[in-house]
Amino acid sequence: MRKSQVIGILLLVGISTVFVGFYAYGQRVENGQEDSDQKTAGDRSAGNPVKLTPKSIEAGKKAFQDKCEVCHGEKADGTGEMATMLDPKPANLTDPRKVGKMTDKEVFDFITRGKDAMPKFADLPEEVRWNLVNFVRSVEAKRVEGGNESGKGK
Ligand code: HEC
Repeated sequence: MRKSQVIGILLLVGISTVFVGFYAYGQRVENGQEDSDQKTAGDRSAGNPVKLTPKSIEAGKKAFQDKCEVCHGEKADGTGEMATMLDPKPANLTDPRKVGKMTDKEVFDFITRGKDAMPKFADLPEEVRWNLVNFVRSVEAKRVEGGNESGKGK
């Protein structure tokens, strides 16, 4: 994911200086992508007004530790202190096959509405909820990239 982002950024820099490239990109945008500068983050992030920056992820992490960790666990893998008491269990938010398939907006709405044992967080400011979405993205990306969980430092 990170590698492709770097490539994407290089690509963006390139095409913004070369007119022909820029034109070609414009055509891709016309093919249904409204948000040109969000391209590298994938279609999932359409509608997310808060960019996936380290700052947003860090803010999301703080909110996560405060509000979510008790159920979803320190590593967001669904193994928080309360997890054993809950049925259904808190979701593993690092799973690219689950939350990874949701769009940012869907994750945002899930946080807003809650479900089963998960309370709704509609009272959190929108920006905080988007930061949480971005944090969730960051833990997923790590899992996909690293392929294992040996980095226990986080
Ligand atoms: C009281 C425990 C609890 C807390 C606190 C909690 N969750 Fe959850 N969460 C759950 C449970 C349980 C589910 C599974 C619900 C279901 O599938 O019916 C879930 C599911 C989710 C999902 C859906 C993921 C998927 O794969 O379907 C997301 C996203 C999520 N939680 C994010 C958060 C965030 C962000 C916070 C903090 C703002 C949070 N949760 C706080 C218990 C909790």
